[in-house]
Amino acid sequence: MRCLLALLAAAAALIGADAARPTWDQLSASYSYEQFLADFGKSSPASGEYEARRSLFQERLAAALQHNANPSSTWKRGVNHMSDWTESERKALRGGLRSQAAMRTSMLRRQPRQRPAEGIPASFDWRSKRGVVTPVKDQGHCGSCWAFASTAVLESHLAIQTGVYAELSPQNLVSCVPNPNNCGGYGGCAGSTAELAFAYVKEHGIASPYSFPYVSWPGDSNGTCAVTPASRAKPVANVSGHVTLPANEEAPLLEALVNHGPIAVSVAAMPWSDYESGVFDGCGLEGEGTDVDHVVVLVGYDEESLIIRNSWTPLWGESGYIRLKRTTSCGIDRTPQDGNGCAGGPNDIKVCGMCGVLSDTAYPVGTKLAR
Ligand SMILES: *[C@@H]1O[C@H](CO)[C@@H](O)[C@H](O)[C@H]1NC(C)=O
Ligand SMILES: *[C@@H]1O[C@H](CO)[C@@H](O)[C@H](O)[C@H]1NC(C)=O
Repeated sequence: MRCLLALLAAAAALIGADAARPTWDQLSASYSYEQFLADFGKSSPASGEYEARRSLFQERLAAALQHNANPSSTWKRGVNHMSDWTESERKALRGGLRSQAAMRTSMLRRQPRQRPAEGIPASFDWRSKRGVVTPVKDQGHCGSCWAFASTAVLESHLAIQTGVYAELSPQNLVSCVPNPNNCGGYGGCAGSTAELAFAYVKEHGIASPYSFPYVSWPGDSNGTCAVTPASRAKPVANVSGHVTLPANEEAPLLEALVNHGPIAVSVAAMPWSDYESGVFDGCGLEGEGTDVDHVVVLVGYDEESLIIRNSWTPLWGESGYIRLKRTTSCGIDRTPQDGNGCAGGPNDIKVCGMCGVLSDTAYPVGTKLAR
């Protein structure tokens, strides 16, 4: 997964400056670019680009006001640290890799079977269980969504299976997980998949974030996988394997969520950039809405939405989470290598669910403390 990143302008946004951030209902046409820069702790752009960024900000503010004025919309658009970024800056976060859209494969003709889920409640949320879901993290400028999603899933499965509520090291995965077939990217900050992370943890275990701290936040290094026995951070947990659920089916996903724990899911996150709150239905069935490029965690659901944990800080969305509208509609992802596709794989794949959320889902089995 090449990941869509959300970069917080500065740590300032996390401490103090955030207090002044306007929520969607506090926005008005008189909200100025200068005030936005101050509220988000951003420094003023160089004079050569100031006007261009100011007009981008004004376009997004106007789009948010217009969107939020529609009483039938189920979600709210806000302003955030990305509101004055160019489209190419937002796109560049996903990496530039594009596979050539060409012939469709026979996969596309097969409609996924949808059956009703069995033996699960009408709504469910792992966050309401004590000591299962750890705090939302910040992947920074590194395309490490796959490592953060895998780590969050492992943390919750460890808690559910052993009662030990502990955090694990995303850096261990960013620095060490091999990606020889370029699945979802080139590895490390350049993208990978949750399945590869779980396979690594089966072989080598995963260390704590204290012995293997996150150094890839700036995005300019994958860190070092210290492999000598003397220097290697000691694994604190491991797994006996993982399950990849049937593609594009909702019932097995929800059953596994309730019966086993949070699940790593792949999504098309580009249309989420301005999400602030509500039930998101903004991914269409083509283009950006099906370009699966990000890995996140399914933690719960209700009758209308799937509850998704992101790794863009707790300041994004609903305290770091987004609710995606439940649907089993399908579209075609013509650039699968942005997501979990591997080099040499099909050019087009069918992706179902809002933002392709049902298309590629996996969880670890046998998560335990490594001794
Ligand atoms: C991380 O590793 C991948 C795979 O070797 C490489 O393509 C990428 O450029 C590296 N990223 C950084 C920031 O070093
Ligand atoms: C995983 O941990 C268990 C102990 O809980 C250990 O017996 C096993 O050898 C470990 N597996 C690997 C591959 O490290």
